[in-house]
Amino acid sequence: MKTKPVILVVDDQPQNIELLEAYLDPQGYEIVRAANGEEALGRLLSNPIDLILLDVMMPGMDGFEVTRRIRQDDKNRLLPIILVTALKETEDRVKGIEAGCDDFLSKPFDKMELLARVQSLLKVKAYNDLMINYRKELESEVTRRTEELKHAFERIKAASLDTIYRLSMASEYKDEDTGAHIKRMSRYCAAIARRMGLDESTIETILYAAPMHDLGKIGIPDLILVKPAKLDPVEWEIMKLHTVIGANILKGSDAAFIALGETIARCHHEKWDGSGYPGGLKGTEIPIAGRIAAIADVFDALTSKRPYKEPFSVEKSLTIIMEGRGSHFDPDVVDAFFAIQDEILTIKQQYGEDNQQVFDIPELKILLQKYNRFSN
Ligand SMILES: [Fe+2]
Repeated sequence: MKTKPVILVVDDQPQNIELLEAYLDPQGYEIVRAANGEEALGRLLSNPIDLILLDVMMPGMDGFEVTRRIRQDDKNRLLPIILVTALKETEDRVKGIEAGCDDFLSKPFDKMELLARVQSLLKVKAYNDLMINYRKELESEVTRRTEELKHAFERIKAASLDTIYRLSMASEYKDEDTGAHIKRMSRYCAAIARRMGLDESTIETILYAAPMHDLGKIGIPDLILVKPAKLDPVEWEIMKLHTVIGANILKGSDAAFIALGETIARCHHEKWDGSGYPGGLKGTEIPIAGRIAAIADVFDALTSKRPYKEPFSVEKSLTIIMEGRGSHFDPDVVDAFFAIQDEILTIKQQYGEDNQQVFDIPELKILLQKYNRFSN
């Protein structure tokens, strides 16, 4: 770290440099020499300079031109430049100011004047350096804080998604006994949404919202939810209301993903031809997120094991989806789904069935058997 202020003295006459050095050196300044403009610009690149004493009349590039070139570099915008000149004409001084110099010193030198001007401009330079460093520190602090906030936000988002998964799983365990369905289904939705050209923020919102599509099952009686046989007409009408119950649980939220969760809960059983429920909405009356969720939900149900059925093969499931193009499903969504078939199958593989069966607790089984005997 340098301790002495460094002054660049530029003059084509060595005796002038020596004279200035003789005045400045005893004052504790370090002197860097340059015999012409080119050399001065080179010195600036390789030395940390605090002030320049620059002769005006030099062969080649004169002091005005050197000043202009120095000022072109943004980092030298505030570097003090004193033009040393024998000229006293106002016109030359104006030219010097226009070029960007800060002060003038007339030849022959007056030692006291020289030292006073140098000292004064070095004070200004020190103040400017302080401000520049302060601004840099402030900027890096802002960057650091912004990064911290970004990480905190990411953690909150991850925690929100985890909470949604766990709560949604709780509502699904009764009839599916696994959390893997909602993980796969929401990722299918996000992948289809991306293929359909939806923006990243909407895709992320769909990823967060889709797990809640069957939240309303929490309000359906267990006897209907887990009935191993076909539902009778009344039971079926009750079952269909899981869409409305789910939407009611989620409605009125300011959070975008919960608001979209309401839409998906309500619309994921609507059909493109208007034969779905609960609203019998048709075509684009069904919000796009509902149309996407419909295909993701059906594909996962087809390819998954259920208490009442074995999983269909991927091939058979894809055929069923294709058969529903334009009747059950939006044709564009079906096309997007088939365009990313490989990605869909990767997700299916990646989020296979959970090993963790939350109700699969030996003590619970024994107690339930006792309870059933007792209650029967
Ligand atoms: Fe559903």
